[in-house]
Order: sequence, then C-alpha cells, then structure tokens
Amino acid sequence: VFELSSPRVRALHGAAVRAMLRTASRVVPLEAPDGEEAKSIEHATRLWRDMLAAGKRDSVLVAAGGGSVGDLGGFVAATFLRGIACVQVPTTLLAQVDAAIGGKTAIDLPEAKNSVGVFHPAHWIVADTTLLSTLDRDELRSGLFEVVKAGAILDRELVATLERECQRLLAADLDALAPAVARAAEIKIGVVAADPFETDRRRLLNFGHTLAHALETVLEYHGLRHGEAVGYGMLFALRLSLRRGLAPEEARRLARLIFALGLPPLPALLVKDLLAAMARDKKAREGGLSWVLLTELGSAEIVDGLEADLIETELWAFLKQPFELAP
Ligand SMILES: NC(=O)c1ccc[n+]([C@@H]2O[C@H](COP(=O)([O-])OP(=O)(O)OC[C@H]3O[C@@H](n4cnc5c(N)ncnc54)[C@H](O)[C@@H]3O)[C@@H](O)[C@H]2O)c1
Ligand SMILES: [Zn+2]
Repeated sequence: VFELSSPRVRALHGAAVRAMLRTASRVVPLEAPDGEEAKSIEHATRLWRDMLAAGKRDSVLVAAGGGSVGDLGGFVAATFLRGIACVQVPTTLLAQVDAAIGGKTAIDLPEAKNSVGVFHPAHWIVADTTLLSTLDRDELRSGLFEVVKAGAILDRELVATLERECQRLLAADLDALAPAVARAAEIKIGVVAADPFETDRRRLLNFGHTLAHALETVLEYHGLRHGEAVGYGMLFALRLSLRRGLAPEEARRLARLIFALGLPPLPALLVKDLLAAMARDKKAREGGLSWVLLTELGSAEIVDGLEADLIETELWAFLKQPFELAP
C-alpha cells in the first residue's frame, strides 16, 4: 500500500489512517505538500519514481487528505503502470462530499487548474467525519456550500435540515455533520453513477459554478475559497432562476441559508472582466456555457444559451447588491 498524505494531515490523522491499513503486508509512505501546490507534474513525477523504486503492479494507493492530495493521488494511481487501484480517504468536508467522489483526477498547469487528468474512480472512499474536527472553521464553512448545492438541486429535505442545523454545522458538531455529509455524498454518487463521464446529468452539479469559475479566474484564486465562490455563484444563479419562473419565496429561502452560513465580502470586481472570463470558459467547453437553474428547491434544469444581455444586466445588479435576495 502506498500511503499518500500531506504533512499537516499526517501529523493530525496519520495514526487513524495507519489503523485503517493495519492488514496491509507493507506500507510505503509517500508525501505531497499541503494545498493546491500538490497538483503539479513535478510532484507526480517524484511520486511515480518513488513508487517505481518500491512498488509492484498489484499495489494500491491510499490518498489521505483534502481534495488536492486526492486529485494528485488519483492521477498518479491512474497513470502508474497503466493504473493501480486508488482508495480515497478524504479529510476535508469539500473532499468528503465532492472531490473524492466521481472519479475525476487532475493536476494543474500554470495556465489552468485541473487541465491534465483522467477519470479513475476510487475503489473505496472512506469518509470518516471525525477527521473533520481539526479542520479550520473557514474551510468547513466553505465546504458546506457544496452541501447546500447538493440539496438545492436534488433534495429539498436536505435544505430544510441545513436550515435547522446551520449553527451546529458551523460549530463542527459531528452529530449534525455526519448525516449531512452522508446525504450530500449519496446525492453526488447518484448523479455520477447515472452519468460517469459528464455528458448530461452530471452537469447539474455545476449549480453555482458558472459564475464561481469566473470569480475564481478574475480573482486569480485569491480572496475567495472555492466553496465561497460557489456561494456567490448560487446567489447569482438564483437571480437568473427567478427570471425563468422560480417562486420568489423559494429563492429567498436558499439565499437566506447562504447568508446564514456566512460569506466574506465580495472583492471589487468589474462586470466586463467576469463576462470575459465566462466567454473564455464558453470557448473552452464543448457544449458552450450552460447555466444550472432551479425550478424549485430540490429541482434543477440545465439551460444553454441564455442571452448575453440578460447575464450582463443581472451581473450589474448582483455586484451592486449580492445579498439583495436575503434581507
Ligand atoms: N476531483 C473532483 O471532482 C474535485 C471536486 C472538487 C474539488 N476538487 C479539487 O479539490 C481541491 C480542494 O480541496 P480541499 O478544499 O479539500 O482543499 P485542500 O486539499 O487544498 O486542503 C486545504 C487545507 O486543509 C488541510 N487539511 C486537510 N484535512 C485536514 C484536517 N482534517 N484537519 C486540518 N487540516 C486539514 C490541508 O492540509 C490543506 O492545507 C482543489 O484542487 C479542487 O480542484 C476536485
Ligand atoms: Zn465545486
């Protein structure tokens, strides 16, 4: 077993991960840096070479860490000796409900995140919510927006649970977190099982992400965590959903939940920069730029080809008052 982890995660949870591997005949520790820096060809190369020096074709790679370690570990496992099995042990909320599930693996190029990778579903995913107790509160909060997203598109019952348990979730209360993580993971598993290669239904998971990606690009990945960008992206998608007939009280409910979880202030941004980022995104995607919009809480549709004028008008209004829907 190749046991890939990062220094922070190994220091905090190495013993718990090792306990999971106690029946392995041999454990070879591998190291990745903490955070996004892990997802580089240099780190992949170093790991391939360490594995070649130690390994065999029938080995398994266990990636224990946040989404960065998971993405790197999955990619290295997918490509080493044409593919060995990968087990994901996600240790952040975002990784437990999102990154570890669905088989997408990737490293980054300086020009673009996640630009090199393959689909390589994990053999097992072990999401132990007790590992989340050491997570930075802002990281936890950021991950909660992906849980909100899962509820918004497919499960209004989960939305109601999040409304009820909001304060306990923010306080990392494990009795509240465990069922929310399980339900959000179940939702993602259901979607990717129906559409493993993202040709159709899996695109629903992009609710809030069309604007989030533009925000992240324009901000050069500084100032907002991914989940926070998704929080703002969902608020914007709600405006577009209202235009297509979402009931105002439904939009207000979700906006209030997002507001209650708490977002850092939106940095100063220009409409034209966001539109330019979306235009580049559109060119990069085969199906053009699509929007995931809500028809009601727990139900979503994919809308292609919304008029540019509408997006621009709504963006002006949104940047002026992002929380307009959550008084
Ligand atoms: N493959 C996919 O489908 C998919 C989906 C979503 C996101 N991602 C990727 O996931 C990455 C982001 O993942 P992330 O949000 O987990 O961040 P991360 O992996 O960068 O981790 C954030 C920080 O938390 C620390 N950490 C991890 N677990 C901890 C714990 N239990 N206690 C204390 N600290 C801990 C890490 O060391 C790191 O410093 C991005 O690279 C993104 O592209 C992939
Ligand atoms: Zn996301």
